[in-house]
Amino acid sequence: MYLKCKECGREYSINEVRYTCDCTGLLEVVIDLKKVKDVFDGKNVTLWKYSSFLPTEKKVSLKEGGTPLYRIRNIGKITGMKYLFLKNEGANPTGSFKDRGMTVSVSKAIELGFEKVMCASTGNTAASMAAYSAAAGLKSYVVIPGGKIAVGKLAQAIVYGAKVLPIKGNFDQAFEIVRKATQEMKIYLLNSMNPFRLEGQKTIAFEIYDVLQTIPDNIIIPVGNAGNITAVWKGFKELKSAGIVKKTPKMIGIQAEGASPIAQAWKNGSSYKPVAKPETVATAIRIGRPVNWKNAWRAAEESGGFFEIVTDKEILSAQRLLASKEGIFVEPASAASVAGLLKLCAAETIKADELTVLITTGHGLKDPNIVIETSELMEPIEPNMESFKKAMEL
Ligand code: F0G
Repeated sequence: MYLKCKECGREYSINEVRYTCDCTGLLEVVIDLKKVKDVFDGKNVTLWKYSSFLPTEKKVSLKEGGTPLYRIRNIGKITGMKYLFLKNEGANPTGSFKDRGMTVSVSKAIELGFEKVMCASTGNTAASMAAYSAAAGLKSYVVIPGGKIAVGKLAQAIVYGAKVLPIKGNFDQAFEIVRKATQEMKIYLLNSMNPFRLEGQKTIAFEIYDVLQTIPDNIIIPVGNAGNITAVWKGFKELKSAGIVKKTPKMIGIQAEGASPIAQAWKNGSSYKPVAKPETVATAIRIGRPVNWKNAWRAAEESGGFFEIVTDKEILSAQRLLASKEGIFVEPASAASVAGLLKLCAAETIKADELTVLITTGHGLKDPNIVIETSELMEPIEPNMESFKKAMEL
């Protein structure tokens, strides 16, 4: 097991504290796939079931993973999709998929002897890192775009005891500060640039296969900093390279219109250009300079997948559709996958009989304000039956 540069192939020890190669390329963990165990029997699905694929011992866990994989028949009917599933990552301990990355990377922080950890975040990474650091007894620092993270996530970071440092700027600027700070000080960086984060997140792929006992045709996933699409693709590739499965799914990444540098370049056939002032109602993916953009690109290219763009309006309406038709409440960034599905089905880009899994990444209660602000609430009514009955008919 070792670290390998995704750009130039240079190798480093698994215990070297570094996030990028000397050539500036990102690093990935190379697992010895001869030693992995085929545990995919569909039973007792939890993240640490796949420990032979993971690069750390379990040092800190809040019982993450094992999230529900729903067959969503009502949305299936609406879209005409026969085999439609949704993997609800909002069911993780802090309400997002970030917990998968944190159980592994905070375990690594402990193995490496760190006492402090830091991340820049649009909210979920902050909440998750704060929780796992609390459980592990580490001091955590979260750097956030001031005024631009959902209230539930902010509350989580505070209550789990992180030092919350809002900046006058966006996520990309927060991330620059964190990169510099973790170079200068003995603090472990826990953004998805940290290869151990992605190791945890790749288990989404393992769980999908374990539960379905087959590999889907399509995975539809929201893309912000582009770590998760990279991680899930790595998971599927490892299953294939280990000889456990024969095929891999198409990776379909969805970006929000105002923060869609990867999808814009993909769709327009132009070169990748960061977005200086990203803007979207899906604050979790309000990122203009995705760190893992090259790896996300490779995931789509290698898998035969692609990127799609959805508007804020499409995101909010997909959020309501999913909640009102399936009883699953997800935050706007997650609803981007549903919005993407609707768009792709309408354009017949994906076919009715293709087994498709949507990944929803965060719980709806993270960001309740967006629902309240875009709803019309009735004025309080007189507490008598007459006005009550009238109001019921409104
Ligand atoms: N969905 C949610 C709910 C997220 O919080 C994020 C990322 C994504 C999707 C996109 O995942 O960045 O791996 O492409 N949130 C990060 C954060 C940036 O700081 O919480 P990605």
